[in-house]
Amino acid sequence: MSLRSHFPVFSHHSDLVYLDSASTAQKPGVVIEGMKQHMEQEYANIHRGAYDLSEASEVLYHGSKEAVARLINARETAEISYSYNATSALNILASSLVHSGQLRKGDKVLLSRAEHHANIVPWLIAKETIGIEVEFIGLDADFGLDFRDFEAKLTPDVRVVSLTAASNVTGSVFDLVRARDLIRSKNPSSIFMIDGSQAVPHFRVDVQTLDIDYLVFTGHKLMSDTGLGIMYGKKSLLKSLVPSIGGGGAINWVHEDSFAPAGLPSRFEPGTPHIIGAGSLLRAIEFMESIGGYTEIEWIEKDLVHYTLEKWGEFKKQFPEIKLIGSEKEEGRIWVFSFATEIMHISDIADAFADQNICVRAGHHCAEPLMQNQGITGSIRMSLFLYNTREDIDRFFEVFTEILSIKN
Ligand SMILES: Cc1ncc(COP(=O)(O)O)c(C=O)c1O
Repeated sequence: MSLRSHFPVFSHHSDLVYLDSASTAQKPGVVIEGMKQHMEQEYANIHRGAYDLSEASEVLYHGSKEAVARLINARETAEISYSYNATSALNILASSLVHSGQLRKGDKVLLSRAEHHANIVPWLIAKETIGIEVEFIGLDADFGLDFRDFEAKLTPDVRVVSLTAASNVTGSVFDLVRARDLIRSKNPSSIFMIDGSQAVPHFRVDVQTLDIDYLVFTGHKLMSDTGLGIMYGKKSLLKSLVPSIGGGGAINWVHEDSFAPAGLPSRFEPGTPHIIGAGSLLRAIEFMESIGGYTEIEWIEKDLVHYTLEKWGEFKKQFPEIKLIGSEKEEGRIWVFSFATEIMHISDIADAFADQNICVRAGHHCAEPLMQNQGITGSIRMSLFLYNTREDIDRFFEVFTEILSIKN
């Protein structure tokens, strides 16, 4: 049975072709039901509540972190804190590195040309405020990291290397094993930070095997509610990091003129957290586990990547002016495909898809430096997930052909 039946949205919109999962994933029934159940039966604020409802919420919140620790192979839940989304987690990390004096004027942060704005702007803010340097590693012909450029730019003044594990535009998966080995051999004191927003929903990002110092990702792309960012850090590093944010729940004590931050992970979670969101992430991870985990997801993904590239091969013969912004190789990519064209405005193409109930996204996908590097202003992006089928891909290319044929 297709996994589609687990997602209620498709029973409400029977002809929906949802090809926008790189933006956000649809939610399985167990996540939706779970949220309702938690709100009806187990909801109260966490943090030292003596009564049963508060304890139940605390159990849910902690259970969610245990599930995340399983997913990414963290050593303990103290290494995991929640924030608002991946963007806020990256902002917290960048500003806390500055606040802790671990990132100073003249220090260099190395990013890739394929980063999402979430992993660019926090560093540019640090550039503006304290004068760090931000440099970008180029891409190779398959949209992977250009390791020759990487090695040349990995100079002793590099304090942080922050890379996406998979691009939200090209679908390329970066070789993080090679990146780790290069960093650890050439500049072992630099911080190895990973944006797993597009990767964690698709394949295992094992923080211990990859020796990742900090990992962030975002719950809603993994089928949880929106409003939940996940921030992993090695315990020794998190202990050395002075939070740039603070407030209730994140302190040990407060006096009129001073305060002491709480222990881990609460010190990075001031205020009331998204308790129901955390519960929804727990249910989403349990759902992934129940369908066979990453083994099953990767199996479905391999088939749909193969099929999309096959269809693309036929399509591009008819429309050679359409450009795939990404690799045509099946290996080393996820199921995110971006197409650039000058035949028609991309917003008009997305509107024409929408008229047929096909959800794709047009624009720069919050990756303007990548667009500039490719000499384009935007692309049409179709992105798949475990509820998609070969029929969805057929429909995409069928309608894309119709749209372009009318224009021609
Ligand atoms: C690679 C990557 N990083 C970060 C983000 C930001 O995620 P959020 O908007 O949930 O903070 C996205 C979202 O598209 C992304 O694709």
